[in-house]
Order: sequence, then structure tokens, then C-alpha cells
Amino acid sequence: MENNKSLIVGNWKMNKTIAATKSFVNEFLSLIGSKKKLSDIVICPPITMYQFIKELPLKFGAQDCSGLSANEGAFTGDISAMMLKDIGVDYVIIGHSERRKNYGESGAFLKRKISNAHENGLIVIFCIGENLEQRNDGSYFDVLSKQLEESLPESVNLNNTIIAYEPVWAIGTGNSATNNQIEEIHSFLASKFKNKILYGGSVNSKNAKAILAIKNVFGLLIGGTSLEAKEFNEIINIRG
Ligand code: PGA
Repeated sequence: MENNKSLIVGNWKMNKTIAATKSFVNEFLSLIGSKKKLSDIVICPPITMYQFIKELPLKFGAQDCSGLSANEGAFTGDISAMMLKDIGVDYVIIGHSERRKNYGESGAFLKRKISNAHENGLIVIFCIGENLEQRNDGSYFDVLSKQLEESLPESVNLNNTIIAYEPVWAIGTGNSATNNQIEEIHSFLASKFKNKILYGGSVNSKNAKAILAIKNVFGLLIGGTSLEAKEFNEIINIRG
């Protein structure tokens, strides 16, 4: 992992066909021009699209991995960390709020996913974040601490795990957390963990610069804006 540059991670979620992925690749290649290797830029496409995007000079990640086995087994529908490593991805997002909510993924189950990822040498981007109710009732520090305590296995070290603070109420809403809110949470997290911390939640090419300048923000996890080659490239350029 690079130490001196911000990490920009695009999470495509369940978006893009082969045609749309190829057109993103062509547009993005023409935008980045002669830039050689952008090893601190990561795209996490639907894993079926990896083969159509892997020619980009970036790093890649998956959006999830199996918690049931690190390797192989009778687990219909699951894709293991070993399989992800096998196709060549380096990162995996674990604990995204959409998965916590839609699949009821518990802290204990997420811990198994993180262990499985580490066992196979993947770098984990572990998402934490409070919902609106928890933000409003002031319990968010406890919520975030609990999410970390419940799910971080002993295998965590400074190189294999990145934390992503993504307030649930800021995801996909167009309303990012304010810079003060981000600063407050990131300094709280940085006082507990030495791992790198990304911010995610309605980041776009307009607010990215100010967010990246906040203390203890090491980089960004970007959903919607990462789907557009032009916007995503603008954020890369902002970062320098
Ligand atoms: P958003 O998503 O940038 O579309 O808000 C962020 C995320 O869910 O990772």
C-alpha cells in the first residue's frame, strides 16, 4: 500500500453491463492519457465485469467475499476470498451498509469475512457508519466503536485493513456529511486505530478536494460518482 498518497476507491455496486464497462474503460483511458500506473486508485466493479476492466492501469477490488469459507465448499452463490485473489483483485469491501441492511450481516459474520480475506492476502476496506437515528440521538461514537470491536479479527494490521467511515444517511443521498462532522469522526477513529481511514457518502468532484484536506482523511470511497469516467477522473486529478 502506498503511504504518501490518498487512496481513491470506486464502488460500482450492482451497475454496468459489458458494453457500459467497455465504454467506461475507453473513456477513462483517453482521459488519463499517459499516466502510467495509478496504484492508489481502486475500482470495485461487479466481479463479472473484472475481466473487461482489468486492462486499466489501476488496482481492483471486490464488493464482498464469502464469510462461510476462505477457499472452497458447498456454499451456493458465494465467491471466496481465495477465488478473488485467484483472478487478480487486491482489495475487498466488507461490511458495506447496504449488505448489513439487506442481508442482516452481523458483526460476528463480518469478522469471519475479514479473516477469510486476510488469509488470502486481500486488503480489506471495512465499512462502518451510523444511521440517521443514531446520528440524531448522539449514540454514533458508541455505534462506530462497537462495529469495529465486533468485527476486527486478530489478523488486522496496518497494511491489510483500511477503515471506511460511511454514514448511512450520507450514502447515495447527495448530502455528504459536513467537513466538521467528518473531522470529528475521523479524529475519534484515529485516536483508537492507526489504520488508514477513508470517508464515503455522496462524494463528488465538487466536495472531494475539501474532504481530502480534512485531517485524518486518508482517501475516499465513492459510489455514484465513480460510475462516470469523467467525474471519477476529475477526483483523481484533484488528489494530484
Ligand atoms: P455514494 O456511495 O458515493 O453513491 O454516496 C458511497 C458508497 O456507498 O460507498
